Amino acid sequence: MRPDRRSRRRRVRVVGIGSGGLDQITVEGIAALRASEYALAAVKGPDDPLVDLRRRLLARHAPRVELVGVVDPQRDRSSSSTSSGAGYRGVVTDWHEARSLAWERALAARPGDVAIPVWGDPAFYDSTLRIVDRIAERGRLDLDVEVVPGISALQVLAARHRLVLHEIGGTVTVTTGRRLREVVAAGADNVVVMLNADLPLDDLADWRIWWGGNLGDAGETLVAGRVGDVLPELRAHRERLRAEHGWVMDVYLLRRGDGEVA
Ligand SMILES: C[S@@+](CC[C@H](N)C(=O)[O-])C[C@H]1O[C@@H](n2cnc3c(N)ncnc32)[C@H](O)[C@@H]1O
Repeated sequence: MRPDRRSRRRRVRVVGIGSGGLDQITVEGIAALRASEYALAAVKGPDDPLVDLRRRLLARHAPRVELVGVVDPQRDRSSSSTSSGAGYRGVVTDWHEARSLAWERALAARPGDVAIPVWGDPAFYDSTLRIVDRIAERGRLDLDVEVVPGISALQVLAARHRLVLHEIGGTVTVTTGRRLREVVAAGADNVVVMLNADLPLDDLADWRIWWGGNLGDAGETLVAGRVGDVLPELRAHRERLRAEHGWVMDVYLLRRGDGEVA
């Protein structure tokens, strides 16, 4: 008797795909996509540019693997809910629960091994592993989760600017725009900042910045200099990229004072 496919253990491959360019995915990542029966992606709207990019990635590297979209639950972004750290974490936790239920329904509806392409590397500011863990913990689906690393935006930033992110034997702190203030106050000298709603840098005029917008994509833009000198230009680039390409993502290294590039 053939085993019931729906009840067998399923491989879920969480695959880092790089941070923009279709050729940033590793050979291991391509093999993981090709070994899967389909791929899953959250869809934030009818013309979600990041879903389109995943589709193009599959067409190029794993053309037999279909992309199945899962409509993303709305996330509460009101400032009354997210202004405090605890409020923000609560909103994100609720949203993870809603997303994990939507993904679980999609997985239950379609048997087979699945790949989940993740922007950059799954280890940096990405909720996919937490969501997959929630699904596995509920125990309704028998999942075997594997992670394939990808090239993070912070690595692309460093490569494009030909940078080492810290001084010899030094420390680099990776944080979000939301937490930049506290990291600076705690004395960090080298800070990589991701998840930027804006550029809260007016009082860091004497720091140096190496900035990258839409890295790996057609609009890729690089700027380096003293914060006070380049901040207006950076803000203009953010507006331009959003207008011209429909999305903007930026990441930057901040270095205290006028420290030299290592
Ligand atoms: C949700 S996080 C995901 C990070 C991703 N897992 C990684 O390893 O790069 C998204 C943030 O990463 C940074 N980022 C991702 N892709 C980028 C790109 N192509 N250009 C510039 N920044 C990018 C931005 O700071 C953006 O707000």
